[in-house]
Amino acid sequence: MPVNAQTAHIDYLILNAGVMNIPSLELSSDGYEMHFAVNHLGHYLFTRRLVAKVRKAMIVVGSGFYIMGATDAVDDVNWDRRGRDKYDGMAAYADSKMANTLFAAACNRHYPSIRTIAVNPGAVLTELMRHSATPATQNRLRKVLKHVFRSPAEGARAVLAALADTASTVTQKKPPLYYRDGRPSRAVVEGDTFAADRLWEESENMVRAYLA
Ligand SMILES: NC(=O)c1ccc[n+]([C@@H]2O[C@H](COP(=O)([O-])OP(=O)(O)OC[C@H]3O[C@@H](n4cnc5c(N)ncnc54)[C@H](OP(=O)(O)O)[C@@H]3O)[C@@H](O)[C@H]2O)c1
Repeated sequence: MPVNAQTAHIDYLILNAGVMNIPSLELSSDGYEMHFAVNHLGHYLFTRRLVAKVRKAMIVVGSGFYIMGATDAVDDVNWDRRGRDKYDGMAAYADSKMANTLFAAACNRHYPSIRTIAVNPGAVLTELMRHSATPATQNRLRKVLKHVFRSPAEGARAVLAALADTASTVTQKKPPLYYRDGRPSRAVVEGDTFAADRLWEESENMVRAYLA
């Protein structure tokens, strides 16, 4: 049953779904590059359709890779300008994570009564590497990475710590936009309203058919 029909109120909306490092350029059924479609556009549409029910805060689960993403990637979602043969899965991931941070900033302006933050949970041992290596290599990597990466529970705690903080910063004139490891951290794109607006407008154009 659709979420909208199921519930009258949503206290916290956490936008978490994501894919990383899809090896070759794949398009969604609507024709948008898959990292952009899953990591940003789906969340954009989900938010637009649910936001009237959200009461307290929204979290976009971003990543430290956002720093390597382009602020104008929305103008080249399908790599036509860069050249489809130049497609790089980690660059596409970084672009989508930049979109997460810009989207969080835009939400704060579009929905001032709700706090929206982008949260980087740190390096967490999950299934996110599923596109990056064969299953056998993933198994070998896991044995090493489990000593340096966080567990999924620890990653979730970093998200929840940032979420808990939204209650105490709600009255601040300029509350934090970005959290790393559960603590506020400055985002490099904090004042880039041009890029955030551009992303918003283009995303709206892309999902317009589903907004009515
Ligand atoms: N792991 C890290 O070190 C790390 C670091 C920074 C940020 N992040 C971010 O954390 C978030 C969660 O990733 P994770 O590490 O937990 O990876 P994960 O174990 O691969 O989980 C990804 C989640 O996204 C869902 N998903 C993927 N494609 C989808 C689609 N097309 N439609 C709906 N749901 C879809 C998956 O659902 P199914 O299982 O049903 O496919 C799964 O629940 C992502 O946004 C990622 O960028 C992770």
